[in-house]
Formats: sequence, structure tokens, C-alpha cells
Amino acid sequence: MKVMVIGGGGREHAIIHSLKKNSEIDKIYALPGNGGIAKEAQCVAIGATDKEKIVEFAVDNKIDFAVVAPDDPLVLGVVDALNEKGIDAFGPRANAAIIEGSKVFSKNLMKKYNIPTAAYEVFSDSEKAKEYLNSCDFPIVIKADGLALGKGVIIAPNLEEAKDAIDMIMKDKVFGASGNNIVIEEFLTGPEVSVLCFTDGKCLKPMVSSMDHKRALDNDEGLNTGGMGTIAPNPCYTESIAKECMETIFIPTMEAMNKEGRTFKGCLYFGLMLTPKGPKVIEYNCRFGDPETQVVLPLLKSDLFDIMRSVANGTLENQEVEFSKGAAACVIAASKGYPQKYDKGFVITEESLPEGSFVYHAGTALKDGKVVTNGGRVLGITATADNLEDAIKKAYAASEKVSFENKYQRSDIGKKALDILNREN
Ligand code: AMP
Ligand code: GLY
Repeated sequence: MKVMVIGGGGREHAIIHSLKKNSEIDKIYALPGNGGIAKEAQCVAIGATDKEKIVEFAVDNKIDFAVVAPDDPLVLGVVDALNEKGIDAFGPRANAAIIEGSKVFSKNLMKKYNIPTAAYEVFSDSEKAKEYLNSCDFPIVIKADGLALGKGVIIAPNLEEAKDAIDMIMKDKVFGASGNNIVIEEFLTGPEVSVLCFTDGKCLKPMVSSMDHKRALDNDEGLNTGGMGTIAPNPCYTESIAKECMETIFIPTMEAMNKEGRTFKGCLYFGLMLTPKGPKVIEYNCRFGDPETQVVLPLLKSDLFDIMRSVANGTLENQEVEFSKGAAACVIAASKGYPQKYDKGFVITEESLPEGSFVYHAGTALKDGKVVTNGGRVLGITATADNLEDAIKKAYAASEKVSFENKYQRSDIGKKALDILNREN
């Protein structure tokens, strides 16, 4: 079988690495892929949002199955376009991808179906939004409605900064049309958990939980990033919390989408906050998380391709989705300066890695036969072990075997999780 994976980051590398375990797959194409993916799949220079070219490529090359991994092609309807040509694909159609594509949609969905989330108001007029701030407690959270490369959320500590955020999003349009509407919502507190779930709209099977580390610097300081590291499982996510989330959040969301005529098939990502008043939804994503995927998939014991096909054809109920009892850690090696200005083009060298570790490529490219840095987040250095402490140690040990100029990483990935585990014991 010929499989095509749309995207070119660490998440797509992890997906391709897992798909390769299935012996029915003869060939994998990555559109566009990256310098590391090129070792496991054939990279094709077609951008992830170039819908027409993607479909043309799939038809010309008789692709049997497509995996559409990033948010923007999903929101743009790449799965719909492939399905129209008779090509099966993993990922929601555009009318369901809106659960990530519009925060106004997702907040209104949660309100309508009583799914726990932060209290909020929606505004399309910046002056009305600013007026509303006078009745708010601070900090307050301001979110651009549409996709914003993970940067559309601003936590404003006071009135002045909240007003500036509204101007930045609605007047200066730093996120373009994504800022035509905004959500202003209550600031919640508590540990954050990411739970990715497979769903075909009829049943929903959660994956192992994980914890992202979004800030650029140690101790959760510095700017927000796309994610500087992850661990799985997340020790805050106990069995009883998992049961509560299944009953009050996951299943109700799947059913709400069905009732709206927007059946969601694919990976539904729940960004949760475990507040003193119970788990609440911070965000939905219509796709695998990055870098959550880099710790979740290495723990998947069942076959990813079988699961993806069962999601696409509506037979997930009969498909096994099992995870190992171990743990995984992923340390992102970034370019110094990320998430702001950084240089690219430095050669990456890799010595032999400890067993059980693997380097997923994110911002890398092949240049004159050498792998070079080509982005802010460069590599996701990942390890699995029987327990979290060993997985973290192993991931950092593996990172020492990988070098490039201006390499930067956090030194405390998983520390918070280990502290929680140690407190419990
Ligand atoms: P999002 O892009 O929606 O995941 O938001 C990015 C980050 O902002 C989240 O991971 C949280 O840390 C934080 N955040 C978003 N919404 C809230 C909220 N209502 N209260 C507190 N923190 C939030
Ligand atoms: N790691 C968060 C995300 O993928 O949106």
C-alpha cells in the first residue's frame, strides 16, 4: 500500500516512524517532510496547505491512504478533497476541524452541551471588548478566534495589557483574519494535561496522557513556544480523573459534534486544566499534538496504521488501542533565540544513541547531503523506559550525542512531573 503523510515536523516524523511498523505499507511519501523524515520516507516538495497539488499528487501516484497531520490543511478541507477523489484519509473533514479552527465555535459548542470550560464572552468589536474588561477580574485570557500558530492566546495580568492585547489582535491584526473575533475568558488555574483520543464519531479511545512544556526557559519562564518538551504519562491524570473526563468531556464532545452534523473522525486533542472545580477544557485541537505525539506514539503497542484505517472506515470499536505501561520523555533541541529570531543552516551531527532513544526531526533540511537546522524547534530527542525518571535521564543522555551550533534546550523537562510522583510516594 502507498501512504501519504501531510506535514513536515516532529509530529509527522513520529507518525511515519510508527506507520513503518506495518508490513502492509510498501511506500510512504511525506509532503513536504524534512531532513530526518527523508531517511524514512520519500519527501515531496509540496506544501502542507497546497490543497490542489496534494490531491493531484495523490491521484497521480495512486495513494491508498493519506494522513493529514497539521491543523491548517485540515481546516482547509484537504481530507474532504481527498475523499471526493475516493482516497481514504485519517483526519477530520473541514466541518469538524472547525473545533480547532474557531475558538468561538468551540466555546459556543461547550456552552450549548454543558461541557466544562472557562466562562467567556465573544466580541467582534474592539471597543465593546475593552468596555467589557471594566467588569473583569485579572489576570484575564484573550484569544484570537482563528488559527494563530499556537500564539493566539494572551494572558493579560492587568487592564492596560488586556487593552493592548485587544488592539494587537483586532486592530493591528497580528494574526490576520484570525483576529476578526476574539474570546475573552476567565483565567483558570491547575495542572495542565493533554489527552489525545482516536474517534470515528461512534466510539472514542483515549491515548496515554501527556504533559507539554510550553515556555521557552526553565521553571516555566520566558516566552510561550510551540512546546519545548513533553512527558507521558502525565502523573496528574489519575484513573478517577480519566473516568470523569471521559464522562463529562470526551464522550459529550464527540456526541455534540454528531448532533451538530459535524461528526469528528481522527485524533481529537483535549487540552485540559485540572482546576479546583474539576477538569475543564482549555482548548480542542483537531489533530495530534506536537510535541505530544513524540511521547505518545512510542508507547503505542497496537498498530497505528490499523487504528487509523479503522477510524477512517468507522470500525474503531473493534480495533485494539493499547499502550505500554512504561514512560516516555521528549526534549526539544531548539535554535538559540527561538521563539523569536534565530539562525538556520547549521550542520547537525549525531553519534550513536542509547538504546530506547530516538531523534525526531522538526526544523531540519537536507543540504548537500548533510542534515542542517532549518527552524526554531530543530529536534525532538525522545526516550522510553520503564519509568519516567529513567526516560528523562535517557532523553537527556541521548541529547548529548546530538550537536549543532546554537543548540538550546530546557534542562527541566519532566521535573514537575517527577516532583508530583515523588510527593505521592
Ligand atoms: P491554547 O493555545 O488555547 O492552548 O493556550 C495556550 C496556553 O495558555 C494554555 O496551554 C494555557 O497554559 C494557557 N491558557 C489558555 N486558556 C487559559 C485559561 N482560561 N486560563 C489559564 N490559562 C489559560
Ligand atoms: N503541543 C500543543 C499543540 O500541539 O497544540
